[in-house]
Amino acid sequence: MKESNIFSKKLYFGVMFFTVILLSIAYSFMPFPSLTIIKWNKVDLSVEGTSKTTRALQVPKPVIASKGFWTINSKGRLGNQMGEYATLYALAKLNGKQAYIPQAMANYLSPIFRINLPTLHESMRNKVHWKNYHLNDWMEQRYCYVPGDYVKLTGYPCSWTFYHHIREEILREFTFHDYIIKEANKFLRSISKGKANVTYVAVHVRRGDYVRIMSKTWKLGVVADKGYLEKAMSYFRKKYSNVVFVVTSEGMDWCKDNIDASKGDVHFSGDEQSSSPARDFSLLAHCNHTIMTIGTFGIWAAYLAGGETIYLSNFTLPESPFLKVFKYEAAFLPEWIGIPADLSPVLPKK
Ligand SMILES: *[C@@H]1O[C@H](CO)[C@@H](O)[C@H](O)[C@H]1NC(C)=O
Ligand SMILES: *[C@@H]1O[C@H](CO)[C@@H](O)[C@H](O)[C@H]1NC(C)=O
Ligand SMILES: *[C@@H]1O[C@H](CO)[C@@H](O)[C@H](O)[C@H]1NC(C)=O
Repeated sequence: MKESNIFSKKLYFGVMFFTVILLSIAYSFMPFPSLTIIKWNKVDLSVEGTSKTTRALQVPKPVIASKGFWTINSKGRLGNQMGEYATLYALAKLNGKQAYIPQAMANYLSPIFRINLPTLHESMRNKVHWKNYHLNDWMEQRYCYVPGDYVKLTGYPCSWTFYHHIREEILREFTFHDYIIKEANKFLRSISKGKANVTYVAVHVRRGDYVRIMSKTWKLGVVADKGYLEKAMSYFRKKYSNVVFVVTSEGMDWCKDNIDASKGDVHFSGDEQSSSPARDFSLLAHCNHTIMTIGTFGIWAAYLAGGETIYLSNFTLPESPFLKVFKYEAAFLPEWIGIPADLSPVLPKK
């Protein structure tokens, strides 16, 4: 009797101990480990979990004259490069470190913007023993205290949650060169057909590789369709007189087939000889308002334009693996207007 009592007590504690260990292992593998809600700009942004408690992000004082320097990977095209630049800028500042950008990033950005971060020389890049530090695509409390003097941030960060608190500085970094500003304004005037007080609405339609990526890699996702663009354009047509839509896309043929230009207020850019991503980008950013679909190129054009922004929202089914690396609320500013996508092409057939 006594012996079995002791035995069951031991068993009981054994099982409890084991359960605690298992739970803590399981917890550490959960996709969003901590339960902080970050409060930026008076907006509660539940970017890290589901907890209802609000805790403002505590921003540490920058350490002056720290040793070492930080950098970030240079991945993707213009929009991604801008996201990586801004994230490095903001996180290095929070952690009191000098930031250096890779040469490849300078090659993307310095022909367009008057950026100020210094470029990493090849000899520094190869000799420094970097500590890689992976970032999710949303701000987390732990990014305020990243240990290490020679840190290389990795990932594809492009979220206002990293840098919106220093928005003015980020916009200053992404000031266009004067000749680009002149070109963009000249072009916009040329398509206004002499009308005074025109409201320019940038329309960026992301297609290209995304059409395949959304349906194949991320499954259960769609890109913007004709219906979305019609809704977004009618919002601006109702609100402003003398609207001119400036459409840029890698899929211009699709745009011409699917955007109704019969009202005479749509200009398809990109037929011109001089078309390039940099030129398209500067045209979009010089417009007054933005209609974007998906992708970092459109997000940045809208962020720089600074007017009203309409974006495609809820473009995946809830079970899409895309949502493990992407959060709508961290990608699009709270004041931007989301129009939910028509998901019927990816819904199970009845
Ligand atoms: C110009 O257009 C804006 C936006 O539609 C409007 O608020 C403003 O009153 C207009 N100004 C003039 C002079 O018509
Ligand atoms: C709209 O954009 C044009 C071109 O950048 C600019 O000249 C104009 O001042 C803007 N209008 C308003 C109301 O901001
Ligand atoms: C997206 O879907 C969520 C959940 O169904 C919903 O709460 C949210 O309002 C939707 N967003 C938009 C912009 O429609």
